[in-house]
Amino acid sequence: MSSILSSSQFGKDFKWGVAISAAQNEGAYLTDGRGLSVWDTFSKRNGKIKDSSKPSVSVDFYHRYKDDLMLVKALGFTVFRFSISWSRILPDGMGRVNKEGIAFYHKLIDECLKLELTPVITLYHWDLPQALEKEGGWTSHQLLKWFSRFVTVCCDEFGPKVKYWIVLNEPMGFTSLGYGIGKHAPGKTGLNNFFAAVHNAVLAQAEGGRLVKKIVKHAHVGTAFSCSEVFPKTNDDADIKAANLTDILLNRLFIEPSLGRGYPHDGFALMDKLNVYTKSWKYTDRMQFNFDFIGLQNYFALTVKHNPIIPYIGISEVTAKSRKVPHTDMGWEINPQSFYRMIKRFWHYGGVKELWITEGGACFKDELKNGIVDDARRTAYFQQYLQAALKAKQEGVNLGAYLAWTLTDNFEWAEGYKTRFGLVHVDFKTQLRTVKNSGYWWRDFLSK
Ligand code: NOJ
Repeated sequence: MSSILSSSQFGKDFKWGVAISAAQNEGAYLTDGRGLSVWDTFSKRNGKIKDSSKPSVSVDFYHRYKDDLMLVKALGFTVFRFSISWSRILPDGMGRVNKEGIAFYHKLIDECLKLELTPVITLYHWDLPQALEKEGGWTSHQLLKWFSRFVTVCCDEFGPKVKYWIVLNEPMGFTSLGYGIGKHAPGKTGLNNFFAAVHNAVLAQAEGGRLVKKIVKHAHVGTAFSCSEVFPKTNDDADIKAANLTDILLNRLFIEPSLGRGYPHDGFALMDKLNVYTKSWKYTDRMQFNFDFIGLQNYFALTVKHNPIIPYIGISEVTAKSRKVPHTDMGWEINPQSFYRMIKRFWHYGGVKELWITEGGACFKDELKNGIVDDARRTAYFQQYLQAALKAKQEGVNLGAYLAWTLTDNFEWAEGYKTRFGLVHVDFKTQLRTVKNSGYWWRDFLSK
């Protein structure tokens, strides 16, 4: 691989940005008429969040957005990805629109435009209004109706100012963690909940795309998928089968229906649960949407083995730590070559017009000492992953953007505040922001 000297190697039209999300950054959970989200409720339950914390204040982006956008600008990024809190816009999920919530996002977008930062809106980043969860949330047939209304309100309001839209953030993340294994909000479990949520998310992603296109003239619309290359622990048939099923779930479940291929199956009986939906309701057409771009978020490569004691799927992970391979402080395997292969794989599906890296980043235990956070491992991580992205781009992949995760340390879901992904350190008691060395590295990289 040629070595990365400057961002200009990606070409002058390449988009460089940082990403955040409403539930992880905004705080102000009861301010100006906002309704509760599933994360407000879930985080109150004992033992659900590792450090027993809540997203109620978080990094107070709601009040500090101007300062935080100045940081985005100072680091040299030109794109800012954020999500819209559904319960700020529609406190009851449906019905009444909260004018103050709308006003906040107008102010945020206006500030971006003033600073010449291109706003990218994520419509759904995991924070369903609690009022809708009471009615079944993502497992309910009503979801599509609720979501369409939310999307319509957002497009009507912000469409005239915003060109770039991402419909869903990591649908596999919120359906599996939130409705399958209950580790995330709303904490539901079981295959029936999981597959119902998957099906509604597949429909919502396509329907959301259609609505944005219809309402926002000249919109460039995508959706963002998590992806992980999956390896079997051994060459035994059982492990290979385990890896193939994991691959279907982690990498194919959402993109294939959106490309018009229906749900992946490959002889796995488990997947019959989804094909039941498409056979009886003839939804295959509605699951398809021709996105302008597909967002990829590749945080780790995964090794799995057959494990009969694990319910439903009979698969467990073989951790990076136990295999003694490089990993972040989340325990996630660092493997830039695998990232490169995933970019190529999604590109070679055919039918994908453009790829964006809508998130990329790493968690390390940072220490603030004498006003400095020397996070050399995070910088090295970005260097290796950008090198891999550049290689894919130079080999012909239409790669349009890289958005770093994330601007500031923030609420990392069930991990709470102990895990830090930011380019900017936050003292959660005082809200003091300190740019980490990785942030300075980005500034230098983007200036060349
Ligand atoms: C992907 C999710 O979109 C984001 O919310 C999360 O913080 C990062 N992964 C890191 O876990």
